Amino acid sequence: MIVSSAGRGTIAGSRAMASQFDTAARAYEASAQDIPIRRYIEYPSIRTLCGGVHDKVVIDLGCGTGLYSRRLAQWGARRVFGVDISEGMLAQAGEIEDDAPLGITYLRRDLTRPCECEQEYAHLSGQVDLVLAVYVLCYATSVTSLEAMCRNARQDLGQTESSSPPR
Ligand SMILES: C[S@@+](CC[C@H](N)C(=O)[O-])C[C@H]1O[C@@H](n2cnc3c(N)ncnc32)[C@H](O)[C@@H]1O
Repeated sequence: MIVSSAGRGTIAGSRAMASQFDTAARAYEASAQDIPIRRYIEYPSIRTLCGGVHDKVVIDLGCGTGLYSRRLAQWGARRVFGVDISEGMLAQAGEIEDDAPLGITYLRRDLTRPCECEQEYAHLSGQVDLVLAVYVLCYATSVTSLEAMCRNARQDLGQTESSSPPR
């Protein structure tokens, strides 16, 4: 697992991190799948935390190669969007989707910036049931970036600064 170091960068920092993942995509997919702690502890725990996703619209933020995007689709989500800043990770996710289609849409986006937004994703504003971000917030390169990621995730859920958090 690659661990981020806290720094001061914002967008520039995000780009540097993207290229780190761009070159690691294939190896990430090959190794992450079967790490025992993920397989036996993390995947079941995240599934429990997500609750029932049947017929839900979900966004997998920082989806990487789509490990969770695919699981969300297999767990019954009606619509799954995987978003990530890394072209390499998205290309790997796209190849897997092409080989075994699950109807997942992958989009490139920097989570520290508001959604600009790709047409289809914009239509969903306010209709998203769940956003998931696994091993992603730790890549924020500053407190400002971390706050932006969380704010944008709330926006994806159709919530504003003043609205109550979900129960
Ligand atoms: C350790 S991987 C986790 C991938 C996937 N969630 C998983 O559990 O296998 C972290 C991912 O977060 C993405 N990421 C980090 N910062 C991002 C940002 N600012 N915007 C979009 N994606 C970001 C990276 O490109 C990378 O694919």
